Amino acid sequence: MESTQERVRELGSKVVYQIYVRSFNDSNADGIGDLRGITQRLDYLAGLGVDYLWLTPFFKSPQNDNGYDVADYRSVEPMFGTMEDFDELSQEAKKRGIGLMLDMVFNHTSTEHEWFQKALTGDPKYLAYYKFVDAAPNACEEDPGEPPTNWVSKFGGNAWQYVPSLNKWYLHLFDRTQADLNWDNPEVRHELEDVVRFWKAKGVSGFRFDVVNLISKPAELQNDYEGDGRRFYTDGPHIHEYLQELVRESGIDGMITVGEMSSTSIANCIRYSNPECHELAMAFNFHHLKVDYDHGNKWALQPADLGELRSLFKSWQEEMTAAGGWNALFWSNHDQPRPNSRFGDVQNHWYQTTTALAACTHIMRGTPYIYQGEELGMTNPGFTSIDQYRDVESINYYRILQDEGKTPEEAFHIVAERSRDDSRTPVQWDATQNAGFTTGTPWIGVASNYTTINAAAEVADPHSPYAFYKHLIEVRKAEPVIQEGDVRFVDADPGTDSEGVIAYERTLGATRVLAMTNLTSHDCAPFAASVANGGEVLVSNYEGAPLAREGRLVLRPFETLALIWRG
Ligand code: GLC
Ligand code: CA
Repeated sequence: MESTQERVRELGSKVVYQIYVRSFNDSNADGIGDLRGITQRLDYLAGLGVDYLWLTPFFKSPQNDNGYDVADYRSVEPMFGTMEDFDELSQEAKKRGIGLMLDMVFNHTSTEHEWFQKALTGDPKYLAYYKFVDAAPNACEEDPGEPPTNWVSKFGGNAWQYVPSLNKWYLHLFDRTQADLNWDNPEVRHELEDVVRFWKAKGVSGFRFDVVNLISKPAELQNDYEGDGRRFYTDGPHIHEYLQELVRESGIDGMITVGEMSSTSIANCIRYSNPECHELAMAFNFHHLKVDYDHGNKWALQPADLGELRSLFKSWQEEMTAAGGWNALFWSNHDQPRPNSRFGDVQNHWYQTTTALAACTHIMRGTPYIYQGEELGMTNPGFTSIDQYRDVESINYYRILQDEGKTPEEAFHIVAERSRDDSRTPVQWDATQNAGFTTGTPWIGVASNYTTINAAAEVADPHSPYAFYKHLIEVRKAEPVIQEGDVRFVDADPGTDSEGVIAYERTLGATRVLAMTNLTSHDCAPFAASVANGGEVLVSNYEGAPLAREGRLVLRPFETLALIWRG
């Protein structure tokens, strides 16, 4: 058994790169990214310096939610390739020192999964695999009556679907074609453990577990008169027990694993990620990505509350650390708009915004995740028409917002800011047609800025976001203080206009790092110039020495600066 300290060092020295397979690279001109497309780009990824690739689901699926609706956990969806393609990718990655992490979507299956299809025939064994509830005796298709609860699907509408042939409802926290599994049934748990063992035996390095903190539903189903139902099933009654069993029975304790934790708490994430609890290696939480939601509503825009952002980072960093938890560090994934478009000013400060956000999280305590294209400073595509969107959630909400009284223009504006498709546009490889992603017609449009924002240009440019990310990875690998040092947030001097500054210290023995990021487009001077005395510049996104004026250290628009004092 490795010691806790060794474990921290291990997790703290690694960087994960997320690949949204569909949009990464297309090898056969059908317009859809695929496994061979990834193999073709492995040298690029090795050059960046990442340790693991998290691949989004490439399993057999009708693709109603782009693969998060799995119809067979053990086979490769033909549009993404074959099992041989997977094995080749795995071997070629290994040769370059890169491991694969697979995405396990275990809260639900596609309604095309064999289990659900058998349930539909009325087979009691498989009915018990899902959350079926009897409808009223006189219910029928035209008039199914009230659903079992008023819970709202994450993709809009009620979370229950009526099946006339069974006269039952089934629960779907996501799309109607994503039926929630019944984790209270031990047979379901054993089936899923076996799926993990199957992929582990194929030599993968780790796993990401999709919305895994939603798997344990309450025994008693009740309406939620305060919210959308999530408080009943989030971090649910048996969640820790089920996770421990999954990890133990599939033999993945100590591997690199991460759980996607929806609307979770620090207390739960400590248990999810403290090695002594034998659950997962780390957790994604999303609180910092809701600071621009008006009253927590994703579909109501408000400017990002940077004070709230700082305070969330502070509590997650400090409290998780104090209790032996471990954070996954990230701004971006396939469900989020591009962070530079969202939190920064890509018109006037594209390079600074992109790199400031990167350094702000990469120097924290935890394991950083880079979402494909983030290292290039890819932006939201700026689509101008709803026909350009593909995502089920975006399309649903464009309609729901209008049903709620928004004009088509208002609804479109909100969707354009919040759509998951903002980050799902093809990776911009070069300045050729379709950004080098495909020679066919891409399944979703390419952002028009690919002629300047692309990998070919940036790999050759020492002042590009790509070069900056590469440097951040090198710095993490070179500095034990970043891998395993303690973390403490530093307050700005009282009375300074520093609401948008995030500053923290990392310490290990006598070595100290001070990381400061200005997330605003104006100068901020939160500290006396003397805070920099004797410090060596470790990371900076402005040329030249740190700027001091009238005895104050000045952080320019979207400036990030990390200084180190070596013990
Ligand atoms: C996760 C995935 C998202 C998917 C959802 C349902 O949030 O990241 O893409 O739609 O789970 O599986
Ligand atoms: Ca393809």
